[in-house]
Amino acid sequence: MKKITKICCIGAGYVGGPTMSVIAKKCPHIQVTVVDINHDRIAQWNDSNLDNLPIYEPGLKEIVAETRNKNLFFSTEVDKAIDEADVVFISVNTPTKTYGKGKGQAADLKFIELCARNIAKVAKTDKIVVEKSTLPVRTAGAIKNILDNTGNGVNFEILSNPEFLAEGTAIQDLLHADRVLIGGDETPSGQKAKNLLSEVYENWLPKDRILQTNVWSSELSKLVANAFLAQRVSSINSISALCEKTDANVEEVARAIGYDSRIGYKFLNSSVGFGGSCFQKDILNLVYISQSLGLQEVADYWEQVIIMNDYQKRRFADNIISTLYNTVSGKKIIFYGWAFKKDTNDTRESAAIYVADALLEERAELTVYDPQVKEQTVFRDLDYLNTRTPEENKNLVKVVKDPLANIENAHAIAILTEWDEFKTYDWQKIYDKMLKPAFLFDGRRLLDKEKMERIGFNYYRIGQV
Ligand code: UDX
Ligand code: UDX
Ligand code: ADP
Repeated sequence: MKKITKICCIGAGYVGGPTMSVIAKKCPHIQVTVVDINHDRIAQWNDSNLDNLPIYEPGLKEIVAETRNKNLFFSTEVDKAIDEADVVFISVNTPTKTYGKGKGQAADLKFIELCARNIAKVAKTDKIVVEKSTLPVRTAGAIKNILDNTGNGVNFEILSNPEFLAEGTAIQDLLHADRVLIGGDETPSGQKAKNLLSEVYENWLPKDRILQTNVWSSELSKLVANAFLAQRVSSINSISALCEKTDANVEEVARAIGYDSRIGYKFLNSSVGFGGSCFQKDILNLVYISQSLGLQEVADYWEQVIIMNDYQKRRFADNIISTLYNTVSGKKIIFYGWAFKKDTNDTRESAAIYVADALLEERAELTVYDPQVKEQTVFRDLDYLNTRTPEENKNLVKVVKDPLANIENAHAIAILTEWDEFKTYDWQKIYDKMLKPAFLFDGRRLLDKEKMERIGFNYYRIGQV
């Protein structure tokens, strides 16, 4: 292989879709085919109405419009795309195991293994196989083992090329990546494969931002990057609890420490807790790996990041209950936001789910408004917890498309996601319609405290009395 001309990506999800779209845009000479076993998902990617793409990401639909059916294709013909490709990216989901050994901690690799077996079955020419999903350290070894032992005698070079994009800013993160990490064997053929993949990224990124390492450093770096980021959020959230008991203001503290260039100011926004598909899963993975290797103190150290995050979500819910005179039974509480952060329709591990669950346990009646999240997603998230029956969830929760729906008779509003539009609302009008005293719990420190108090709200925000 002299140059990469055909790429196949297995998995048309939050990672595969945007990543391949950007590669297609920046590399018109490369044919990129994204495949998925989920027919509905592929149909959505191929929908002529670009507002129906399965993923909402600012800037994504414009790129899909520009490249689709030119050098970017979405298909369910998995075998054909693998057969034709020089490079196969594996970008399927790796959820936390819900059964058996490692349940609740380890990553479930069954989709990865299925992909590896499929590639081995289909490939008739040498291929570079790239792991793009977040995976525990040493997965590349397992993939290689399957490929080498079940294949048709062709050569496979396995690379680890973890994704660092954040949802909501995926396209910008891809276009202007801080770095691209490519891990591979330190053999001549491994080095050649790393260089070939590097050339793809060099079409739009400076070469010095493309880091090459061995496979294991690359796999581990992905988990560690997410663990460090999550740790920053848990660290500042732990301080938010302290601030609420004193006269300190968490934002002032964050700013003061952030000025120290060794600490830095980014990722220090105190919140109702981090969510998303990566942080919790990756830390649990790190904990599991450390335990498996007999490093209990290391495991305990990182587990504390999750314990603090759970505490933060619980604390927010408890504050709502105690502030509403220790009972929310039958009270109407409006949730603004359900997504795990703004500018995405993704709700995986969103703090909103757990805060809602705690309030529903106290028989609160919730109305949920999120500009991008669908009704069925909210119920799927709640039903998945198995805390109560789907019928009970249906009885206690309403999902609305208008932020002012159900506002009459509302006892409280809780802000769970930092959507910009919440800042632009006519809060005086909202206040006027609510039951009095009207309570506002700001889990994102989004609104102006003084202004809300002037309007008349009993306003509570994370990290400040
Ligand atoms: C994260 C990493 O940022 C990305 O590099 C990796 O590839 C995947 O995981 P993502 O989960 O999409 O990306 O979102 P991110 O912006 O990191 O936010 C994660 C969670 O932390 C969100 O719930 C967010 O609201 C919360 N957060 C983030 C805070 O509460 N405070 C902050 O200061 C930053
Ligand atoms: C520290 C703070 O840096 C300073 O801002 C504060 O006012 C006082 O405490 P100091 O204790 O003098 O200053 O030294 P510092 O350079 O921060 O190092 C502290 C310890 O951490 C040292 O033992 C150092 O060897 C160690 N360290 C530091 C590491 O092990 N790794 C690092 O990456 C940095
Ligand atoms: P991520 O956030 O990691 O991109 P998603 O769940 O959004 O995760 O996307 C993963 C996609 O991978 C899903 O659309 C799923 O249908 C697809 N997938 C899982 N296993 C396979 C497989 N063996 N072959 C093809 N596609 C698969």
